[in-house]
Amino acid sequence: SENLKIENNRIFINKSEYAINGYILAYIPAKEIVLDEASEDGVIYIGKGENKKLNIDLNPKISTCKEFEIIVENQDIANIDLSDGYVLNGLNIGDTSLKIKCADTDKEYKVHVSNYAKEINITTNEITLSKDRSYKINAFTVPEDAENSTLTFENKNEDIISLDGNIITAKEYGEAVVVVKTGEPNVITKEIKINVIKQKIEEIDGITYVNGVLIANKTYSLPANYNPGKLLDETMTAFNNLKAAAANEGLSFWISSGFRSYATQKRLYSNYVSGYGKEAADTFSARAGHSEHQTGLAMDVNYIEDWFGDTKEGKWLAENAHKYGFIIRYPKNKEDITGYKYEPWHIRYLGVDLATSVYESTLCLEEYLGITSRYEGE
Ligand code: DAL
Ligand code: ZN
Repeated sequence: SENLKIENNRIFINKSEYAINGYILAYIPAKEIVLDEASEDGVIYIGKGENKKLNIDLNPKISTCKEFEIIVENQDIANIDLSDGYVLNGLNIGDTSLKIKCADTDKEYKVHVSNYAKEINITTNEITLSKDRSYKINAFTVPEDAENSTLTFENKNEDIISLDGNIITAKEYGEAVVVVKTGEPNVITKEIKINVIKQKIEEIDGITYVNGVLIANKTYSLPANYNPGKLLDETMTAFNNLKAAAANEGLSFWISSGFRSYATQKRLYSNYVSGYGKEAADTFSARAGHSEHQTGLAMDVNYIEDWFGDTKEGKWLAENAHKYGFIIRYPKNKEDITGYKYEPWHIRYLGVDLATSVYESTLCLEEYLGITSRYEGE
């Protein structure tokens, strides 16, 4: 109006007009639309089925242009819900443009709707490892086919552990953290705690437990009177699960030797010594008190023959036993460590978690626990 004059940022009012109208409406034009929710290159990322409130701002901040019009090009990809501010809904995977307009200016953004990872799933959030042992982290995104499903692993304690991809190797005693991260955008992270401990060897009633695992080998023996009398219930239940799963694939398993008492093992071993000599017998038969068969946690399945490992059942067992809680206790090429020849038929129950961890480590149980298997004085 001619009654209002602006000079050097000062407003001059014609006094008589002022007296009549009583107020001034100052108008500050907007130069630019600013949207916090957009990335630097102007993309708004949103998950399918997600809602995102858009905080539309102006530059300069005190601009008075406050009425916005929002135009979404592809309404089946995304739309704007005005019932609670400006809320963007991700409807379907895809891209669309979104234009925000006010009286003075407008700006166009790209909207990218995706199936981003909602969480990271890890079999265990806390891992206990002995020194020098390795562990493969088994992690995946939910959903597994998320656009950013590629995970990266970050080592927070390089003095305690080393990390090669998703494989942790314990270097020193102590605590460490690995951070698992999804890909961009919408990065989700999850922490895994790792405790590197000295293996804990306990003897309870003459039975040795290493990190809580009952051990019977050439180094650690069982008392003669330790006699559960049969395979333990947990062993039988796990074997029945294994057997049923294999049957579904047309394979059959049976127990050819389960529990063996101290006395039975003593007879068996001395027969082998008579037949083959002590040195040879020691490569495939345990002395009394040293056999895993006395624990009730181990058994021989199907054919006690080297060729069993090459049968369908033998191969299936090697690849799947861990899923039911068993490991092939005396693997190939570990003879010097387990103290026994390869036995594709002898399985030991450890529970699914530990058996899986041992399987994935590709170590035999002695290596995994950091123990020996050697008769005293030999
Ligand atoms: N054949 C295994 C080593 C045992 O006698 O227990
Ligand atoms: Zn056996």
